[in-house]
Amino acid sequence: MTLLVTGGAGFIGSNFVLHMLRKYPEYRIVNLDKLTYAGNLENLREVESDPRHIFCQGDICDSDLVLELLRRYSVEAVVNFAAESHVDRSILEASAFVRTNVQGTGVLLEAAKRHPLKKFVQISTDEVYGSLGPEGKFTESMPLHPNSPYAASKAAADLLGLAYHHTFGVPLVITRCSNNYGPYQFPEKLIPLMIINAMTGRPLPVYGDGGNIRDWIHVLDHCDAVDDVLHKGNDGEIYNIGGGSELRNIDLVKLILEHLGKPESLISFVEDRPGHDRRYANDTGKIQQELGWRPRYAFEAGIAETIRWYQRNESWWKRIVSGEYQQYYKMMYEGR
Ligand code: NAD
Ligand code: TYD
Repeated sequence: MTLLVTGGAGFIGSNFVLHMLRKYPEYRIVNLDKLTYAGNLENLREVESDPRHIFCQGDICDSDLVLELLRRYSVEAVVNFAAESHVDRSILEASAFVRTNVQGTGVLLEAAKRHPLKKFVQISTDEVYGSLGPEGKFTESMPLHPNSPYAASKAAADLLGLAYHHTFGVPLVITRCSNNYGPYQFPEKLIPLMIINAMTGRPLPVYGDGGNIRDWIHVLDHCDAVDDVLHKGNDGEIYNIGGGSELRNIDLVKLILEHLGKPESLISFVEDRPGHDRRYANDTGKIQQELGWRPRYAFEAGIAETIRWYQRNESWWKRIVSGEYQQYYKMMYEGR
């Protein structure tokens, strides 16, 4: 099987590429990634000289390139991870989100009309459903209510994908996963940001009252689920994915401090994110019953392993936080 994986140099995409090449010796992956600030070839060192991994630096909005890759490598399935993925950045400036997440997905879908595929997996997010109250969970049949520009751009891509399935028979499947954590996550996101700040003795900026809830899943459990959806998912269907580990941000931050033996006095409550969704939680009954997927990581073990990964891979994150990231951090947090 030859797959086109887009965004395969990012956090989840690179974990997926490594997962698939470890598990399926006969698979070949064409990895199309623009290498934005979030893309990092260091994540892919393990497969650097593996002939089954063909890396191409390029943009999913480039329709000629996309079609040329599908044809040249006789690609049988597409897994679209490529995206602008950070809610805070979408609040600062959303045009790249509309371009990559909506237009880019549109380009891939157009290419899928001209180059028949066995499967097109669109990697979406539970954030398209909006925000939950204290009770209940997101199910696949819920109406979409995206609140951030990021979530709205992902919801638009989902709708475009479903329309291409309905109208042109593109064998599309959508996955909507909850918040991921694990190795190679860019430090702008909550868990790596807090681990790195705690390790370096800097304040831990908790938005609002810290009572917002996220449903955490280890990235390798997400990769397993996408693998199942790719091989067994039914065309036109949507599958929620989640770890079933709901935590308030403040409790998660305290847990990280405890693991690292750092004081809670490092916590700094800062101005809330505009439009901040209060709670996410995914009902994963459908993927469990229909495809037999289950998460394997208990959160306690997964977070401990992730903290150790950041402790052991200082050079990976130090290179990131010493570069352009500093300007981003200043803009986002200074005087907040
Ligand atoms: P990331 O920001 O770490 O990686 C995104 C990757 O896409 C980067 O390598 C970047 O270079 C690449 N990219 C960006 N624009 C591109 C373009 N125009 N053409 C080609 N490549 C481009 O993101 P992530 O956290 O790994 O998320 C991957 C996918 O999973 C996204 O679609 C995101 O919406 C979805 N998702 C993420 C989470 C999460 O918790 N991180 C949860 C659910 C769903
Ligand atoms: P994030 O990792 O950005 O993921 P998302 O917004 O897609 O869920 O944020 C997770 C939660 O952590 C969210 O409720 C916002 C909060 N948060 C902070 O409190 N401080 C921070 O510095 C960051 C980045 C996030």
